[in-house]
Amino acid sequence: MAQEVKDNPVSTAREGAVAVLTLQSGPVNALGSGLRQGILTAFEAAEADPAVKAIVLIGGGRMFSAGADISEFGKPQSGISLPDLLNRVEASTKPVVAAIHGNALGGGLETALACHYRVAVPSAKVGLPEVKLGILPGAGGTQRLPRVVGPRKALEVIVGGSPIGAKAAAGMGLIDELAPEDSLRAHAVAFAERVIAEGRPLTKIRDRNDKIAEGRESPGLFAAFREENARKTRGFEAPEACIACIEAACRLPFDEGLAFERAEFQKLVSGTQSAAQRYVFFAERQAAKIPDVPDDTPARPIARVGVIGAGTMGGGISMNFLNAGIPVTIVETKREALDRGLKTIRTNYENTAKKGRLRPEDVETRMGLLSDTLELEKLAECDLIIEAVFEDMGIKKEIFSKLDRIAKPGAILASNTSYLDIDAIAAMTNRPADVIGMHFFSPANVMRLLEVVRGEKTAKDVIATAMQIGRKVGKIPVLVGVCHGFVGNRMLAERQREANRLILEGVTPWDVDRVIYEFGLPMGPFTMSDLAGLDIGWSRETNKSESVRDLLCEQDRRGQKTGAGFYDYDARRKATPSKVTEEIIAKVAERQGVKRRDATDQEILERTLYPMVNEGAKILEEGKAIRASDIDIVWINGYGWPVYRGGPMFWADTVGLPKVLERLRAYQAEYGDAFKPSALLERLAAEGKGFKDL
Ligand code: CAA
Repeated sequence: MAQEVKDNPVSTAREGAVAVLTLQSGPVNALGSGLRQGILTAFEAAEADPAVKAIVLIGGGRMFSAGADISEFGKPQSGISLPDLLNRVEASTKPVVAAIHGNALGGGLETALACHYRVAVPSAKVGLPEVKLGILPGAGGTQRLPRVVGPRKALEVIVGGSPIGAKAAAGMGLIDELAPEDSLRAHAVAFAERVIAEGRPLTKIRDRNDKIAEGRESPGLFAAFREENARKTRGFEAPEACIACIEAACRLPFDEGLAFERAEFQKLVSGTQSAAQRYVFFAERQAAKIPDVPDDTPARPIARVGVIGAGTMGGGISMNFLNAGIPVTIVETKREALDRGLKTIRTNYENTAKKGRLRPEDVETRMGLLSDTLELEKLAECDLIIEAVFEDMGIKKEIFSKLDRIAKPGAILASNTSYLDIDAIAAMTNRPADVIGMHFFSPANVMRLLEVVRGEKTAKDVIATAMQIGRKVGKIPVLVGVCHGFVGNRMLAERQREANRLILEGVTPWDVDRVIYEFGLPMGPFTMSDLAGLDIGWSRETNKSESVRDLLCEQDRRGQKTGAGFYDYDARRKATPSKVTEEIIAKVAERQGVKRRDATDQEILERTLYPMVNEGAKILEEGKAIRASDIDIVWINGYGWPVYRGGPMFWADTVGLPKVLERLRAYQAEYGDAFKPSALLERLAAEGKGFKDL
């Protein structure tokens, strides 16, 4: 047996004729250059040792491997590449068995696929999530996986990117044997000994051609898959490249397929989309880190949550906690409103169950965790109380001063307000340190963003608790400061103002929506207004301003729910541009004396998005967001900003801040100080820096 190499992240132990190679590199065994070299060294030593008849590869710590080291992409490669390493492992003269626990993702699963056998514990998860990073499995995954599971399943796993459980993987033939949870290593060694004893031939996935025949015999399956997934993959480059590679696996000899995959991988990894998606991966993890609230800040225990308001928001918020098994007490002022709210929650669950995404018995389990009441006093036993009534400061203040009397000591008092001043709300209590904003996004049971709003006096452990419970219920919490609309809605208001100005100047709402949609957002501002309802905050009696929205509402064009808003809607809610709307816009423009003109798509984009970026810069200047990447996480998870553009601040960097600045100045000259560039933007542009450098 060769000497143990000092500091090798791979340790070798011998069990009889089996060499067990244990990967021990950081929290996730990311396959960076050090670990790759370590595997090669240990592997070559085991292969050269005549006493070794088989090799087991196993992960030390939490998992087998989370794949390539994402932070290495875009940098010059050092040492052996993963594809070369895996070809070397596959070509081994001795059988290699991968023993999987925790995760085998991306390059981690590709490593297992280069082995001759795979055993895993039932709780393990395997997958090829590269598509989510804007790349593809570039170490043979697109060529080997279809050879094991067939092209159809390979498309689902590679283009979908979601991990699958080991049991399901075993069902597909991807895992050869399941091992007991607590004895993976012993089981893998025994498996290897059996392989030796039986003198089984070395089966290499590269030599298997039975499963890929389907791809040649029914090539239509690729076209069908493209069509089925067109909506989900719109705008992304990586899914198409993944499909092309799987097609190539079915068409080309293995080595040519590998070369094809390599070329596609190189194209993607050097592109802007992948840079954006990798940035988002790290940005999401960064958002959890708060400089003055260390990770080990003790959180307050949350055993029961109170929700005030059983409307759309209150109901959606409650569902998050019920889904996570946390009991909720929901309060309303009137029985009918409460019953309506409860019914909506139940119907939501039943619909999910009908679609097969929830077991019918779980509908009852979740409803069983929900208590309803008309008395605020019943919230006395709650550890976290979230107020979700409509946006009226008077009512919110009244509720919080009552909560101050009712809630038990140490309970966290949160408001779901989207705009209002948390400090003013906190001032109504004698415990402002326990008050915080928890701003969910509609539909609150679906959208992943949670803006956690830190008030002037909010205690650190209250912040830590809000962030932690947010993650526990599946949200992506981002800490923001108190200002009108916080981060998301404050920036949205900029876009909205310019969109409204553009339509008075003669651009149609449909063109504004088209440009924003083509940019990659799920919908444009006018489609969004129609969906939300144009009459939010509008009433016939008090309205005097006669804006386009006012006139639409007066004609009962209040959005999708009334069958018409900016657009006309048919019975199936399909939108068509409306002549009535165009006439109303022309009338308002004339009344206000707005000069009508044409605008290019580029101008529409700049006019609506650059002021958002500028506002983001002001938010950073004022310290209302900790980092530019937090703003990007808000926009991706709360508003559907296309992840392949990395969020508005990342996108502005890719456009180039000098260009953004130059256009803002030009628009400022024409339209006034709404476009006045922020000092931060001026400074960064002058220094040749981007938001990424902050
Ligand atoms: N590369 C570099 N760093 C990684 C990493 C990777 N592949 N996976 C995780 N990390 C880092 C995280 O950034 C985090 O760092 P900090 O503690 O400094 O924030 C740390 O490892 C722990 O990660 P998580 O907080 O995410 O831990 P978790 O237990 O919640 O989740 C996980 C574990 C499910 C494996 C998750 O980390 C994950 O999804 N990782 C990425 C998996 C992936 O996309 N793999 C494909 C890589 S690309 C590839 O392999 C290309 C190829 O074909 C060659």
